[in-house]
Amino acid sequence: MKYREKLLGPGEDWLGRYTSSIRDDRAIVYEVLETLKAHVAHLAEKGLMPRDAAARIIDLLDEAERRPELVLREEFEDVHEAVEAYLEDRLGSDAGWASLGRSRNDHVAAALRLRARKFLLALLGSMIRLRETLLSKAEQHVKTVVPAHTHFQPAQPTTLAHYLLSVEEALADSWRHIHSVLVEIVDKSPLGAGAAVGTSAPLDRRRLASLLGFREPVINTLYASSSRLFLYTAASAAYTAVLVLSRFAEDMVLWSHPSLGYVELPPAHLATSSLIPHKKNPVTMEILRARAYELLGDLLALAGIEAGLPSGYSLDLQEASRHAWRILREAVVAVRVAESLVVGLRATGRGAVEAERHPVVSPDLAEGLSLEKGVPYREAHRRVAEMLAEGLDPRTIAERLGLRGPLTPWESILSKKVLGSPAPGKVEEAIAAAWERARSDRALLAETTRTYVKGEEELGRLVAWVKGGAGGDSGDTQLPKA
Ligand code: ARG
Repeated sequence: MKYREKLLGPGEDWLGRYTSSIRDDRAIVYEVLETLKAHVAHLAEKGLMPRDAAARIIDLLDEAERRPELVLREEFEDVHEAVEAYLEDRLGSDAGWASLGRSRNDHVAAALRLRARKFLLALLGSMIRLRETLLSKAEQHVKTVVPAHTHFQPAQPTTLAHYLLSVEEALADSWRHIHSVLVEIVDKSPLGAGAAVGTSAPLDRRRLASLLGFREPVINTLYASSSRLFLYTAASAAYTAVLVLSRFAEDMVLWSHPSLGYVELPPAHLATSSLIPHKKNPVTMEILRARAYELLGDLLALAGIEAGLPSGYSLDLQEASRHAWRILREAVVAVRVAESLVVGLRATGRGAVEAERHPVVSPDLAEGLSLEKGVPYREAHRRVAEMLAEGLDPRTIAERLGLRGPLTPWESILSKKVLGSPAPGKVEEAIAAAWERARSDRALLAETTRTYVKGEEELGRLVAWVKGGAGGDSGDTQLPKA
C-alpha cells in the first residue's frame, strides 16, 4: 500500500526518493514500532478495535522490531507508510484498524521524543562520568601551579585543580539544563493529537502518554503534531556541553604547546607528522574544536526549519531530526573524548615556572597596599604599576611598600580568601561540594530512568492482556491496572 498511488497514481521514483524520510527513519524505527504498539493496544483496551486483530498486529510489530529491514524499504515515503504496507501484506484489511485515531504527524513526533529522550539520558550519564573524572584529577593537583590567563595573557597564579573545577562546574550547569529540558519539555506525549486537531475516537491521551513512559501529554493537539521545538531545545541544551568542551579543547591545545607546556596530553590523543619528525599534534582536541562549529551549523538548520513555518505540520519538519541526532550523538562523543583525555592528562611542572617568569603577584601587592596600609585601591594599583614599569621585581616592590608579600605564585594562591578561589582550603571545599552534587545528580538520573522503565512495564502488561485475550471476545477479561 502506498498512500499516494491510490489517489494520485504512480509517482516518479526519483521524486519519491527526494521527499522520502526512510533513510533518516532508521534512527527511529524501534520507537515508531513501540509507539504504534501502544496505540493499537490502547484501541483494543478501549474496545475501539477487535482485540484479536490488535494481538496479531502487535505480534507483527514485535517481529519488525527484531527485523527492522522489513519496514525500512526504500520505496516508501517513510517508515510509517512502510509499516502499514507490511501489516496489510500479512493481515489484509484488519491491518487498517491500526490507523484509526492517529496520524503520521503525532506518531513521528512521539517517536522523535522517545529517541531524543534516550540520547539525552546517554549524554547525562556520560557527563556525570566526565565530571567525576575531572574531580579525581583535581584532587591530585591542588598544589599544581599554573598561570590563570585573561585575554590569554598570564594574569594571576592558580592551580590545575582550580582550572579543572571551572570546567566541572560549567558541565554541572549544562547537566542541570539538559536534565530539565529532558523532563520538562522533551518528556511529553503528542499521541492522540492526530494530524492537527485530535480525533473523534475517544482515546485517553494521558493513558497513551503513560504507556510510553511520558510524564504527561502535550496538551494542544496543533502544537503537539506540528512542532520540533522540543528537538531544537534538546539539541541546543546538549550543545551547551559541546560549548564547554570546545573551550576546554582550546585550552588543552594551547597548554600543551611547547612554548607553554603546562600539561602533556595522553599519547592516544596525539598524532605524528608525516614530514616533521619531532611533531606531536593534539588531534583529538582539534577535531572536537572543529566539530563544535560544525554542530552550530546543525543547530542553525534546526532553528531555521522551524522558524519560517506556518502553523500545522509541513513536510519541512521531516528534515529536522538528522540535525538533532548529529548534535546529540556528537555531544556524547565529545564528552567521552574529553573524559579519556582528562584520565591521561599529566602536569609537567612548567606551569609553576611559567608563573614565576611573570609578575603575576602584582595584584596581590596592590591589594596588600590597600588592605594593610589603607591606600585606596586605584592609587595602590598605580604605584605598583609604576614600579613594575621601572623594572623592579616583586620582592623589591614589596620591600619598598613595606609589605611581607606575597612574593611567589604559591604565596599568592595561599592568600586568596574567597569562596571558589584556588587557595587549597577553598579548592578542597569546592571538590567536596562537587562530589556531593555529582552524587545527587546521579540519583536524579536513576530516578528519571526508572519512570521510563515503568512506562515500558505498563505497556508490557497491556500487551500481555491484549495477547492473552486474542480469540476471546473483548470486554470479558480483567483489564490491567492503569
Ligand atoms: N515522515 C514524516 C516526518 O518524519 C512524517 C510524515 C508526515 N507526512 C505527512 N504528509 N503529513 O516528519
